[in-house]
Amino acid sequence: MKYFERMKEKFNALKDKQDVYVLSIESSCDETSVAVVKNGREVLSNIIATQIEIHRRFGGVVPEVASRNHVLAISNIYEEALKKAGIGESQVDAVAVTYGAGLVGALLVGVNFAKGLAYKLDLPLIAVSHVHGHISANYISHPTLKPPFVCLMVSGGHTALLKVEDYNKFTMLGMSVDDAVGEAFDKVARVMGLPYPGGPEIDKLAKEGERKYNFTVSKSLQSTFNFSFSGIKTEVVNLVHNKTQKGEEIDRANIAHSFQECVTDELATKAIKACRYANMDKLVIAGGVGANSRLKEKVKALCEENNIQFFSPVLAYCTDNSAMIGSMAYYMIKDGIGLADLTLTAKPNVEFR
Ligand code: KG4
Ligand code: ZN
Repeated sequence: MKYFERMKEKFNALKDKQDVYVLSIESSCDETSVAVVKNGREVLSNIIATQIEIHRRFGGVVPEVASRNHVLAISNIYEEALKKAGIGESQVDAVAVTYGAGLVGALLVGVNFAKGLAYKLDLPLIAVSHVHGHISANYISHPTLKPPFVCLMVSGGHTALLKVEDYNKFTMLGMSVDDAVGEAFDKVARVMGLPYPGGPEIDKLAKEGERKYNFTVSKSLQSTFNFSFSGIKTEVVNLVHNKTQKGEEIDRANIAHSFQECVTDELATKAIKACRYANMDKLVIAGGVGANSRLKEKVKALCEENNIQFFSPVLAYCTDNSAMIGSMAYYMIKDGIGLADLTLTAKPNVEFR
């Protein structure tokens, strides 16, 4: 039987298999990660080699450096993931990989490794979208959580409000028309001389400050579920540059606090509005900025006021990891979608739907 026909048969057989073990790979940015996930929710291993220290000296991720370090790390991480999971290659049912969105050179390392592995083990290869993976991180942290719900997706690459009607049915309610919110956090941190990644640094520093600056987000998007963060980012950058030129002190804690309050107000209010609009009583946060303490605090409080159940992944599953990819792949297998052949390649941009 031809290779892809055989894979289709194996893939379809997994729909009814009781226990499905997915080996998943993630390399879209600066984390090389391999996981083994059983039945979409049970993480047997989730090994992450982070390159944060390597990129810190450049103030951000250098794509070429990221790719090279993925190449160096991936084989060892794979061995470690199997070992930690306590299973052999023969127990794996499918290989899943993030094929986009992300840095194309970084993604290619994971995609090529996954293709080689799937071929060697004669297993179906599942192509998973990184943003869908972020949503799935919540299924790991909340074993009883099921769609439908509204998802506030907030990462370094994406900011969006999605209606998640089913595991594989996503409708876009709104998205950022320019910068992702994580990008704005990182840029604001960088201009104030804070280390990469800036989000967690702003989060920490903001606790020591107060809302001294009246930063704003675009009013023109008020009646939509779209976001814009480039304006506020520029406002902060200009403020810091002006102060530097005048030799004034840069009160970083107050700037961090004011910036964070403004963007989290915008995210939290629109997320609640989206729940009301979509008639949903569950709100789920996904992505790295979901680790932000103030965002979680605000969304949680507003959810309580509005009788909406609130979910966010535990910290370790907020930022990039491959367990979330393994979880998403399981639900794709069950719905019979996502089977890829060996022509699979990396995509820098992937549609949400
Ligand atoms: O989801 P993620 O790991 O990668 C992408 O898919 O982009 O998100 C990374 C982003 C970075 O911009 C980082 O600064 C931000 O998440 N981040 C935070 C926090 N922790 C990570 N932003 C605000 N507050 C945090 N505590
Ligand atoms: Zn991510």
